[in-house]
Amino acid sequence: MATLQTAKEEIRRKADIVEFISQFVQLKKAGKDFVGLCPFHGDNDPSFTVSPDKQMFHCFGCKKGGDIFAFWMAYHGGSFPEAMKDLAERYHVPIESEAWSPADQRRADKREALFRINEAAAAFFESRLKDGVAGKPGRDYLQSRSVSEDVRSSLRLGYAPDNWHGLANELKRRGADLSAAAEAGLIAQGERQGYYDRFRGRIIFPIFDTRKKLVGFGGRVLGDGHPKYLNTPETPVFHKGAVLYGLHIAVNPIRQSGRVVVVEGYMDFLTLFQAGLSEVVATLGTALTREHIRSLKGCAKEVFLVFDADAAGRNAALRSLPLFLQEGMQARAAELPPGEDPDSLVRKGGLASFNHYLENAPLLFDFFLAHKARVESPDHIEALMATLKEVLPVLAEIQEEAPRRLYVKRLAEHLHLQEEIIWPELAKVSGVKQTSTPQAAPIETVLIEKETAKRFGSDLQLLNLVLHHPEKALELSACQWRCLAADRAVIEIIEIIFRHCDSRQPPSYEELQDRLDSDEARMILRETLIRPSFFSEADALLAVTEFKHRIEQKEIAASIQKAKAEEDIDIHALDRLRKLKAQRLAELTKA
Ligand code: UTP
Ligand code: MN
Repeated sequence: MATLQTAKEEIRRKADIVEFISQFVQLKKAGKDFVGLCPFHGDNDPSFTVSPDKQMFHCFGCKKGGDIFAFWMAYHGGSFPEAMKDLAERYHVPIESEAWSPADQRRADKREALFRINEAAAAFFESRLKDGVAGKPGRDYLQSRSVSEDVRSSLRLGYAPDNWHGLANELKRRGADLSAAAEAGLIAQGERQGYYDRFRGRIIFPIFDTRKKLVGFGGRVLGDGHPKYLNTPETPVFHKGAVLYGLHIAVNPIRQSGRVVVVEGYMDFLTLFQAGLSEVVATLGTALTREHIRSLKGCAKEVFLVFDADAAGRNAALRSLPLFLQEGMQARAAELPPGEDPDSLVRKGGLASFNHYLENAPLLFDFFLAHKARVESPDHIEALMATLKEVLPVLAEIQEEAPRRLYVKRLAEHLHLQEEIIWPELAKVSGVKQTSTPQAAPIETVLIEKETAKRFGSDLQLLNLVLHHPEKALELSACQWRCLAADRAVIEIIEIIFRHCDSRQPPSYEELQDRLDSDEARMILRETLIRPSFFSEADALLAVTEFKHRIEQKEIAASIQKAKAEEDIDIHALDRLRKLKAQRLAELTKA
């Protein structure tokens, strides 16, 4: 059994951050690192970097980064103890229960209790569906919709009998935590009779997150009752706008095929899944959110929206275009025949008829133009202007130059306009949209005065040298190196390295990040570590010499200032200093 610190170290030893993050983000090898689209901000030009050497990740766009624990917390939105527990389980590292602080323990327990009570409820609903008498209405309903036994069990479908106290009584009988059940939205406190069930007389769809944790439920009435579907309310573990039904089982097929089909409803999902389409997920009837898109970005290259062929479905697809453009993800939108949804279509014509619509699905942008930019005749100036007003704000969302040009070209063709007419109008709505200035990785350079290193200023040059060549840079620790750096965070990092360098080998990335106080310092540390060294092995020594000269220059300059400020100036001493300064400078430029 391990304490938290030793467990943390052991997890770091056993885990491979590239392999871990690859489950959630598509990574490509780039030099010694891996890059991908950042899951934490609208990224359409891979700025998310994972370093296998340092076992850390860093996004040059949004600046998020850290070790495997930091990734886990940012990605799953959980606390440190949850990350520890999950990773410890995954990498088989046992932890003593006394290792946790009481506050940590409470936070982790809370979410755990909600998952546990949801599991108990799911087991109850499953058992009811199978029950000979009580489950018959549920089984009949599923039969009427041709849901197979296999699908029932792989999705763990259940049935809540039409009874006010079925689940509440069962949980009470088993001594379960009723307040957790209430917080999970399974039961509610009545005026007189204690707790009553939220889900009654409904087919139950358990909803899992990508960690396969049971976060909530959906329930469909058996007939025409209202509401047709009832979902778990927002809880600490259930956020309707963030979860996609079915993603827990679809994630691998999606990764393999690179595409994902997004539908609106539970039944659409079920029917497609049963027909053999495995890369499918459903929104819970809400519009597609940025969070949805980000969770898909990690596994899919292309999204196919197949919403219901009604005004609501069409609008949902149209509204999602800006999000896809911002996130840099390709999307298509299939339009089904009027009145159909994927479920009804597959029921009539099988998966083949559905695939026909997938294959012919236009790009979401073209779908958008087809609906928003219907201009009967190019003479209709007002209609054209109205169309531009609708479309241009969407194009203004595109951060990158090349796709923006392509889309403008497409818009111009569609409207039979010249591009020159569109560009100034676009500029008006986008204001001065700044195009991101990616910091190109500097090439190795000989000396600190060379262009590439110079761009980063004295602070970052020094830090780069110290981090990439700690043994050589150690010589500077005896000088007044602080005068070369103005940034507090940079000084903090260098101090720690110098302090720990002399005793043994330089501290590892993990040791450093644990010792740093500020997020700012940790961010600068990651960026400098991921950037290549500005100096080759041979040049590093030269750079050290240069830095020493610079320090000397500053010291002499300071002495001159001091000498000049004195009441009776020692002309000779001042002269000596000036000569020394000039001489050193001459040496420096010669080197
Ligand atoms: P639909 O009304 O299109 O239902 O709602 P559906 O998927 O065709 O369902 P069936 O075939 O009649 O059973 C689409 C989705 O919107 C959400 C559900 O997630 C549903 O699957 N919804 C709908 C609700 O959350 N509440 C409702 O009352 C209705
Ligand atoms: Mn339907």
